[in-house]
Amino acid sequence: MSGDARLSAETRGRVRRARADEPLDAAAALQHQSFTNPWTVESMQWELRETDVARLYLLEDGGALLAYCACWVIFDELHINSLAVAPEARRQGHARRLLQAVFADVTAGGVTGATLEVRRSNVAAVALYERLGFRVEGVRIDYYQHPREDALVLWHRRLI
Ligand SMILES: CC(C)(COP(=O)(O)OP(=O)(O)OC[C@H]1O[C@@H](n2cnc3c(N)ncnc32)[C@H](O)[C@@H]1OP(=O)(O)O)[C@@H](O)C(=O)NCCC(=O)NCCS
Repeated sequence: MSGDARLSAETRGRVRRARADEPLDAAAALQHQSFTNPWTVESMQWELRETDVARLYLLEDGGALLAYCACWVIFDELHINSLAVAPEARRQGHARRLLQAVFADVTAGGVTGATLEVRRSNVAAVALYERLGFRVEGVRIDYYQHPREDALVLWHRRLI
């Protein structure tokens, strides 16, 4: 995103892309709270610094992190690798608004479709993505560990 994208007046926070050289402790902490297999701060920073494809979008309100979305942009595809909203801020539309801001940013750069994997039991995430136009296109058996579980493969083929 070129500079910050201010969200509409009635919504909380603003979305921005994290820089490769900034501390990512808040995003890492939220990831640790939200997943059983989180990445380290170092691996998040390495990916942003050393690859052309990795992006980290942050939804912040007054300096507090409400949500993040870690993704790759590979040619015309967006791969969503991790998304989480602070537990106390869930069910307030933050994930939807963050993803809509991400989609607006990447489609401006030529992305046309988006994909991700999600645990089969993650009812909240599947409902969120289906509401945004994603559909289940496949299953990866035993994809996740801790606990072992299948992944649903979701695609949105027409972001624009
Ligand atoms: C999944 C998650 C990102 C949703 O974030 P959120 O900000 O609470 O979602 P939103 O408020 O934007 O919800 C948008 C829509 O998603 C669906 N949804 C979100 N949470 C839901 C839940 N707990 N149960 C059922 N549907 C849910 C609803 O359709 C909702 O619309 P509505 O509130 O008008 O009914 C959040 O629960 C989270 O961080 N979970 C832990 C990490 C995780 O599972 N990430 C996704 C991995 S791919």
